[in-house]
Amino acid sequence: MQNIPFDRDLIEGILAKNKIQSVGASSIREVKKIIDDVEGATKQKFIRMEMGIPGLPATQIGLDAQIQSLKDGVAAIYPDIYGTQELKHETSLFVKNFINIDIPEDCCVPTVGSMQGGFASFLTISRMDPKKNKVLFIDPGFPVQKTQCRILGIETEHFDVYDFRGEKLREKLESYLSKGDFGCLLYSSPNNPAWFCFNEKELQIIAEVANKYDVIVIEDLAYFGMDFRKDYSQPSVAPFQPSASHWAKKYILLISGSKAFSYAGERIAVMIISPELFNYESDTLQKYFGQRNFGKAIVFGSLYALTSGTAHSAQFALTAIFKACNEGTFNFRTDLLEYQRKAEIMKKAFIENGFNIVYDKDLDVDIADGFYFTFSYPTMTGIEMLDELVFYGISAISLDITGSKRNEGARACVSLVPNELLPELSERLKIFHKDHPIK
Ligand SMILES: Cc1ncc(COP(=O)(O)O)c(C=O)c1O
Repeated sequence: MQNIPFDRDLIEGILAKNKIQSVGASSIREVKKIIDDVEGATKQKFIRMEMGIPGLPATQIGLDAQIQSLKDGVAAIYPDIYGTQELKHETSLFVKNFINIDIPEDCCVPTVGSMQGGFASFLTISRMDPKKNKVLFIDPGFPVQKTQCRILGIETEHFDVYDFRGEKLREKLESYLSKGDFGCLLYSSPNNPAWFCFNEKELQIIAEVANKYDVIVIEDLAYFGMDFRKDYSQPSVAPFQPSASHWAKKYILLISGSKAFSYAGERIAVMIISPELFNYESDTLQKYFGQRNFGKAIVFGSLYALTSGTAHSAQFALTAIFKACNEGTFNFRTDLLEYQRKAEIMKKAFIENGFNIVYDKDLDVDIADGFYFTFSYPTMTGIEMLDELVFYGISAISLDITGSKRNEGARACVSLVPNELLPELSERLKIFHKDHPIK
């Protein structure tokens, strides 16, 4: 067994040198620097759970198509801002096959990651109606989306959905949306950081309350099809990826290539805009974007001004991936099940050593095993727990920055923990538990 916990003086020296008072309260970038220094000094591997980046190779079908497109010369040519005709076509088929919704090709638009899809959505929606420009976040969530709103000068409100699952969600949403000043709401499902998934009833509630107050639903499907309790990967066969789009009138779905297809490096996603929203017209859109029509304003106004479209070759990659999924020649879920397998082992190691899973249920069923999970230790806050776990060579991020009210918790991402370190994780947690008895 290696020398866990690490020597306190050594670690405290590294923290002091980096001017870090609390690892738990530090940014992901600061945590990375500390880990690099500790690994250098101890010659031991950290168990790194702080970064939410894919741990699988990029989907080969995408790579092959992208390389071929570059050889064919697309690098020299500006892509159409609207997206290539082939990508629009395959995206429309993809959402029919895997969500079971009918969307015209026009309403399917590529973006530079879902990050840009969100930014362009906030930018455009906040200029649709000057009286309805606030954004409601159903938290916990991905902190950068709030940063985007702050940069854009858009006011936001948010609530932790932990105590408002099921029918309780209706009244909670009513309490915000009935004020009449929200233009849109956003949530991710499966959720970053908590990995809960809204069920069909909850998605219907979200859509109904949004429709009642004419609010746009932004459904962030960054983890498309990754609720592994069900198999959403068979084209045109139920069950389908659950989505509020079955009930919502005005909505935007953000489908990212980053996690489901391990294509994060090429920054590619698609934005699906409901026809009712795409065709919506307003004078203020005309003023800002030179277009009265929402679809045209977001594409020819926002996306044009931001990046003038999405990298040409990455569009070829996603087109090939969607085409193979649509034709049933590629099953995107198969490789991703690795995340489920690891999460199951890691969660078990935490629970056996006195830790709890913070967001543990989707109403009456256990949450799925997948890309993230949340954990806490009974005698500590999340920050105290993370500060202490550093001495055991384990890192994660605090839930504080995600809008969660559960300040006892931290988020773990399973993707970067190598299989050979899983027994080591269990050992280190055992020592932690022994050193911090729960009375
Ligand atoms: C909930 C959520 N939305 C959006 C993104 C960003 O996706 P993309 O890489 O497509 O920009 C992430 C990435 O971690 C995420 O977790």
